[in-house]
Amino acid sequence: MPFYRSGLFSLTLLGRLLVEFTSPKLGEDARLLTGTLEAAQGGVKILILANTNAGHSNLKCMARPPAFGDRGAHSKSGFCPNRPGCMRVVGIETSCDETAVAVYDADLGLLSHRLYSQVAMHQAYGGVVPELASRDHVRRLLPLFREALADAKSDRESIDGIAYTAGPGLIGALLVGAGFAASLSLAWGKPGVGIHHLEGHLLAPLLEPNPPAFPFLALLVSGGHTQLVDVEGLGQYRILGETLDDAAGEAFDKTAKLLGLPYPGGAALAKLAETGRSDRFVFPRPMLDRPGLDFSFSGLKTAALVALRGRVLDDAIRADVARGFQEAVVETLAEKCRRALEFTGHRRLVIAGGVGANRRLRERLAEVVLAASAELYFPRAEFCTDNGAMIALAGCMRLTALAGEPGTAGRGRMIGARANWELGDSGEAVAGNGG
Ligand code: KG4
Ligand code: ZN
Repeated sequence: MPFYRSGLFSLTLLGRLLVEFTSPKLGEDARLLTGTLEAAQGGVKILILANTNAGHSNLKCMARPPAFGDRGAHSKSGFCPNRPGCMRVVGIETSCDETAVAVYDADLGLLSHRLYSQVAMHQAYGGVVPELASRDHVRRLLPLFREALADAKSDRESIDGIAYTAGPGLIGALLVGAGFAASLSLAWGKPGVGIHHLEGHLLAPLLEPNPPAFPFLALLVSGGHTQLVDVEGLGQYRILGETLDDAAGEAFDKTAKLLGLPYPGGAALAKLAETGRSDRFVFPRPMLDRPGLDFSFSGLKTAALVALRGRVLDDAIRADVARGFQEAVVETLAEKCRRALEFTGHRRLVIAGGVGANRRLRERLAEVVLAASAELYFPRAEFCTDNGAMIALAGCMRLTALAGEPGTAGRGRMIGARANWELGDSGEAVAGNGG
């Protein structure tokens, strides 16, 4: 099947075969669908071309996965809309620089999870290079998918649905997961669902043995977002406050860079801070003097820069600045959480997102919840940062909820991806619902 100047990332021959066809030019040539298909198509019933156009806009794949009530294959695990508890879902995460796949079963919990981090590749550039990220997802996704399925002793028969991260994130990277999910959904005849990346993060504590019940207050602190969210239930999210400029993780990464630490520097800065003095640099606590629950972290990076200016960057000063910076971020987050608990009256606080792995933040928030007679929940460190398990879990919950909804049988869902997507809009998990 020759294609002009490019290749297709995946093709599906419905109900028969899933074909992956990877172009070395993915990411360089945005027009991946400009080819002509010349092969004699004797046995092909339907051919799905996943549009991997890397233009930075909202795009939809052409695939329309089967809906409930339109299941091509019999499921061994016995999923049916009337018994939504028996759902087993594969989750795919490709929103940024981690390729991850997991299998979650509603009865048995997490069965497997595999992850490949691209961090080493991006380190040379001091940050994520979107086109390299897309290409690497293409290379890694299928082997990881096979491994995750084998670990979970699952196959086409036992999988009931396919969930993938639909946004927000890097559009080219997202489309690798979206295209794969669309193709798989069609090839296997299983419903697919696009998940909001932040919904994945805030549901991640539900992967743990003692999960929080709804409702709860969530502090979402990742590389791209800092939000306080009132979580009433699945898909019922109210943003109470968010950052006006840099996200907490972004501030960690930028300050780490100033301290000469490799990208992404959050965890390395936290480690360095452990050896620093807390009284040498006392940085401002942004926005604490104002009412409301918004954050601002860009000034802290500048404060760190000013503190370092004109000094010899020895180990002691780097550690002291790291400590002062971390204390300022943690104190600010802790105080806003205290206020938000008071404001909402919630008795459960969830920390999620990469910065949620920060030990000092967890310690301080433990004190905050104790004082508020509340409880603290967080995922294990590996599920704070990007992973497939949270997407599989969120997909399982979304598909289970959809299965219980009257009128979903026969309803199609377009698979799509959105670079920008507010969590508050996530009543519908999938952009561009096919209706
Ligand atoms: O959630 P995540 O993996 O990706 C996004 O969705 O953004 O978060 C990554 C962020 C990075 O900024 C990273 O530096 C930060 O989380 N991070 C940390 C720690 N571990 C990861 N920040 C502070 N302390 C840590 N221990
Ligand atoms: Zn994330």
